Amino acid sequence: MHAIRNIVVLTGAGLSAESGLATFRGPGGLWEGHRVEDVCTPEALAQDPALVHRFYDARREALDTVEPNPAHQALARLDAAWAGELLIVTQNVDDLHERAGAQRLLHMHGALRSALCAACGTRMPHEGALPPGSGCSACGAAALRPDIVFFGEMPYDMDRIEAALADADLFVSIGTSGAVYPAAGFVQMAAHFGAATLELNLEPSAGSHWFEESRLGPATRLVPEWVEELLAGR
Ligand code: APR
Repeated sequence: MHAIRNIVVLTGAGLSAESGLATFRGPGGLWEGHRVEDVCTPEALAQDPALVHRFYDARREALDTVEPNPAHQALARLDAAWAGELLIVTQNVDDLHERAGAQRLLHMHGALRSALCAACGTRMPHEGALPPGSGCSACGAAALRPDIVFFGEMPYDMDRIEAALADADLFVSIGTSGAVYPAAGFVQMAAHFGAATLELNLEPSAGSHWFEESRLGPATRLVPEWVEELLAGR
């Protein structure tokens, strides 16, 4: 394989599972009997804003009870040490990557500790509960909503992500089921542009067959092992 310089890492809920945050499609993937697909939609927000806001309030509150795990820490070490291009693209809306120290990070599905004004589009840091009708500090409209990309909405930063995938020598997917597009298609895009592809996941994912290599196991073991391997140039 040619020398690796540019790396894109995609992470999903499996990365934060060992910190104690439930994944979406595994056991514990329901919230008050609702499937995420039924709560995380623009239609649900329009029909029952109190329910949708409560869902994200509970998840925001849960962030105070969890810590980054050795997998987040290993990725932050890679970020600090890697001389080439690196982009960590997370589907996670928790803040465990940044609390571990990662800097070259994009939250493609938004972030719990952020609010979005549905009126003017401003995104702003937010702590604590976010009741429907909260006022925007930029335009004053009573239109703040969780800054979460719902099913059917366009993920953030797709231009930057696609540019990084086109330039990548290595694409690594960690702890994601490969069920949700466009993230599930990143492996094909990266491979198309010539990147090597590696998957680190607890079990085979929907997209495992697209990867040149799949390693199965918990992220807290696989990610530190892979990062050490990469930094040692093996
Ligand atoms: N280590 C590694 N992988 C794990 C671990 C672990 N400890 N625990 C679970 N996994 C794997 C599961 O096997 C599964 O394949 O992580 C994956 C989690 O899949 P999902 O729950 O579907 O989460 P994700 O892929 O991030 O979901 C994508 O769906 O609802 C939306 O917007 C939400 O960003 C989310 C998107």
